[in-house]
Amino acid sequence: MTHLSTGGACPYSQQVADEFRPFDIADPFAFYARAREEAPIFYSAELDYWVVSRYEDVRAIFKDPATFSSENTQSSYKARPAAVQRVLDEGGFQGHSGLSARQPPDHTRIRAFVNKAFTPRRVASLEPFIRDLAERTIGAFEGDGEADLVSQLSYDLPALVIFKLLGVPDEDVPNVKEWALSRVLMNFGDPGEEEQLGHARNLVKYWNYCVALIESRLETPTDDLPGDMARVYNSGDHTVGTHEMASLVYGMLTAGHETTTNLLSNAFRDLLTHREQWERLVADPAKIPGAVEEMLRYAPSVFTWKRKVKKPATVAGVELPVGANVLLLLGSANRDPAQFERGDELDVERSNAREHLAFGLGIHYCLGAPLARLESRVVLEELTRRLPGLRLKAQDFTFAPNTSFRGPDQVLVQWEV
Ligand code: HEM
Repeated sequence: MTHLSTGGACPYSQQVADEFRPFDIADPFAFYARAREEAPIFYSAELDYWVVSRYEDVRAIFKDPATFSSENTQSSYKARPAAVQRVLDEGGFQGHSGLSARQPPDHTRIRAFVNKAFTPRRVASLEPFIRDLAERTIGAFEGDGEADLVSQLSYDLPALVIFKLLGVPDEDVPNVKEWALSRVLMNFGDPGEEEQLGHARNLVKYWNYCVALIESRLETPTDDLPGDMARVYNSGDHTVGTHEMASLVYGMLTAGHETTTNLLSNAFRDLLTHREQWERLVADPAKIPGAVEEMLRYAPSVFTWKRKVKKPATVAGVELPVGANVLLLLGSANRDPAQFERGDELDVERSNAREHLAFGLGIHYCLGAPLARLESRVVLEELTRRLPGLRLKAQDFTFAPNTSFRGPDQVLVQWEV
């Protein structure tokens, strides 16, 4: 644990820090408003992170990767118990980060390589597949009059899309979803040792699955993203090694669905809670792309993100030494009234919604942003068209306990048939 001076931090800083509940992200917005106002940066001893809540500061940190590196984004908050580390070591686990925690020049090299395969054209070409999948998925429960929009729609759909891109068979969806959740809870939650052991066994399976996928593509390159990478490698271009390719698959298999599942689940909940907003989309589907941006702003599925200080820096008047950890509250920055008028209000026609920080910024800007936008637009288009009369059932919303990946476990709805 590093002990740091609070420098010129305001006197409310400690009070705000004491009220911070980092693993409970169900409804922290009133707390965020207070933090932005009274202590825009404070130190959380529970996490050993400095917590930053204002738009302007979060944006500046994203834009300066030489001072604020992403090397800690995939690290757990606490050291792993020896028994957990043993499970990982004995299982040959070597999956750490495909891109998000990599640093230049490695990051620059790998990102340039993936950018060639993950082109806007390749993403756009997925639209008919996504639309057909959304139609079939909604069609399967359309006549029922009630549904859980998470388990019956948003849970599987993004996984089936990224799997299509990565050439993974549909029957592996449940396993990979479970393994990816283990990764999230291990790196962004606070699980006890017994629970960590279960997650560690899942991580071993997950990593070995990604290695096997790359090995099979090196033998027989198929028409998918890993196949493209394998073809380049087999042609003698070893710019990106086989371990790095497996890491990319490992990264995309988490980043590529968990996040979009949660974005859609948040959107269903929040649009139906503010039903006049839902009705605006039903009446005029041309408003849906703007609504997707507003959902990314209002309820970002990546709720907080991590950075590490590499050069002495001052944030919101507080001096941070080299080695300090920084937690960026994206869910707070996106509602900062200094950037977004009436930031706590949902408005699908907000003109500057696209200035949100839900996908980060700068060299690590989300690789999958065009895909996430496409999937969300198509699903909302199909849902508003097919089930315009959707209403929320009375229910309590629950969220997985972790700092960074936010989406309700269930969204129960009903409609007239
Ligand atoms: C709503 C959905 C999504 C959200 C909210 C989201 C959010 C983010 C955020 C906040 C970052 C970190 C940016 C930074 O550090 O500056 C990121 C990076 C990344 N995302 Fe996404 N993401 C989403 C969907 C996807 C999808 C569908 C993919 C599929 C490939 C993906 C792949 C990645 C990768 C590979 C990175 C690391 C990029 C790098 O370090 O160069 N994401 N995303």
